Amino acid sequence: MDGNGRWAKKRSLPRSAGHVAGAKTFKNIARYCNKIGLKYLTVYAFSTENWKRPEDEVKNIMNLLRDYLKDAENFKDENIRVNFIGDRTPLDDDIKALMEKNEKASANATGLTLNIAINYGGRDEITTAVKNIIKSGLKPEDITEQVISDNLYTKGMPDPDFIIRPSGEYRLSNYLIWQSAYAEYWFSDILWPDFTEKHLEKAIDDYNHRNRRFGGV
Ligand code: FPP
Repeated sequence: MDGNGRWAKKRSLPRSAGHVAGAKTFKNIARYCNKIGLKYLTVYAFSTENWKRPEDEVKNIMNLLRDYLKDAENFKDENIRVNFIGDRTPLDDDIKALMEKNEKASANATGLTLNIAINYGGRDEITTAVKNIIKSGLKPEDITEQVISDNLYTKGMPDPDFIIRPSGEYRLSNYLIWQSAYAEYWFSDILWPDFTEKHLEKAIDDYNHRNRRFGGV
């Protein structure tokens, strides 16, 4: 969900206003994905590297997350299952509790699974997986790609088919680096707060014209 800061700057607003607008777009797009029958949406809300930002900005993003989670009505009638990926250890206790509450309350939803990546980093995820696999006592010959997948935050979920990065940046930024091995990418200059259902439709249409070979012919 990139470009919030630049969106705010263009309007001579503080960066926090960009994140507020970004949070609105996030809610719209998640709802839309559920409406069109998408099964999984994973959004990058806060990376393991985002702690480097000024304290105020980190607080602001965490407060937006807090507000969103407190609004328990978010998922009730929408049949959206919410799930968090990332290392929760350094998060505030009330946020951790709200995350759990939302996950439990929506666990039986059968519509969209909405993964929200908080303090998520692909390298951190793989490092944790390696530690857990070693602790489990598995022998080298028992370690398969499936074993690694089963030790990631996305255990039991399909790999992403399609990754959209807005805001004119052409990089992965440590996002789902194991899972995205064969994902299709869509890059666009649109800043995340300006991203609408129409942009998503266009992206999906492009995706539907791709020829995915997965290394075959
Ligand atoms: C990247 O844009 C955006 C973030 C690091 C924060 C994303 C957070 C939200 C959209 C709101 C909170 C989330 C939820 C789930 C309610 P940037 O700040 O790097 O923008 P810039 O590159 O233009 O500076």
